[in-house]
Amino acid sequence: MLDATKTQRARGLLTASARSDVPPFMVMDVMAAADRIEAAGGHVIHMEVGQPWAPAPRAALAAAHAALDSSRIDYTSALGIPSLRARIARHYRETYGCDVDPDQIVVTTGSSGAFILSFLALFEPGDRVAVTVPGYPPYRHILNALGCEPVPIETHSETRHALTGEALLEAHRKAPLKGVLVGSPANPTGTMMTREALTELIAVAESEGIRFISDEIYHGLDYAFPAVTAAELSRDAVVINSFSKYFCMTGWRVGWMVLPESLVRPVERLQQNLAISVPTLSQIAAEAAFDGRAEMEAVKRGYEENRAILIEGLPKAGLTEFLPADGAFYLYADVSTFTSDSYDFTKRMLEEARVAATPGIDFDPVRGKSFVRFSYARSAEDMREAVRRITAWLGR
Ligand SMILES: Cc1ncc(COP(=O)(O)O)c(C=O)c1O
Repeated sequence: MLDATKTQRARGLLTASARSDVPPFMVMDVMAAADRIEAAGGHVIHMEVGQPWAPAPRAALAAAHAALDSSRIDYTSALGIPSLRARIARHYRETYGCDVDPDQIVVTTGSSGAFILSFLALFEPGDRVAVTVPGYPPYRHILNALGCEPVPIETHSETRHALTGEALLEAHRKAPLKGVLVGSPANPTGTMMTREALTELIAVAESEGIRFISDEIYHGLDYAFPAVTAAELSRDAVVINSFSKYFCMTGWRVGWMVLPESLVRPVERLQQNLAISVPTLSQIAAEAAFDGRAEMEAVKRGYEENRAILIEGLPKAGLTEFLPADGAFYLYADVSTFTSDSYDFTKRMLEEARVAATPGIDFDPVRGKSFVRFSYARSAEDMREAVRRITAWLGR
């Protein structure tokens, strides 16, 4: 028989660390429930996951095939294949008219990998980092797992859900912040920061010594006005982007960062140790993806059509309140006339109407009870069918 100390030690072998106790990403649970319905023969319209419906650009697929046929797939430099870094730098010149040195570009395992690297390079355990609520849940969860303290700041529809300099300063005065992370176009709201709003926020953050991190993963998917990169507004900002969304390459797991010069070597050392390098095949495909822009613009026009279908159709179904869908492929709808429990609402909508969407509580534990996020990254026919199903389900 084990004595008490040994039992305690044995128990210690079975428990995970406190820092690994992060909440699940609820959208994954909705996906799993939808999969179960489909496995039993049901047909679900998928509006839960933020995943493009179209495949990667043909040029990217061709480059990957050619690489498989002709070369060994070796490690690359930890910072990424030099020609890909140069191509990304060129993208800043072509898209934003902004000069970025290829030496400032680091290729990462999606933007998810970039969050880990940048948080490690910028912050110490215990540092407070502001994030917006509603917002992409992994921002908070990754910061927690790394021992930092995410500081949620509520944003409001009157400011298009942009974080204001004033709100940032208010949080900073309560207890000093070391960083702030914002995304525009944003997930889940689909709203965007205007050039003025972004300029003001960066100026306020930097005047207080708060590091600015800009998640630009939905750049390219802007409908209301052109998205502005923080790389153009500050030499000290950390800019994070990815091939997942505009280039439809979620599973390839490749993204990038634009870093201030002083952070390049620390991030290189981290990447060498944490991952060695980003998957080579994905980097080769990503470089070629820039040649598929015409194809991706056609995909974007499809999202615009979907957006129009929902903006017209959802109010007729009774969902009249939603935020301006400026960019990305999300529409964040207020469902408070129907429920005060968005989790239950989406569960019933999936079971009874066979439309999968994500409850707002994934993005905002409090106000999210009154919101549902619809992703419109699939076909126009799916969007029309979703409107028909929701209209019938809500009894309109
Ligand atoms: C706002 C935002 N940032 C980052 C990511 C992570 O994307 P990836 O790691 O595929 O680049 C997502 C994914 O949905 C997202 O919505």
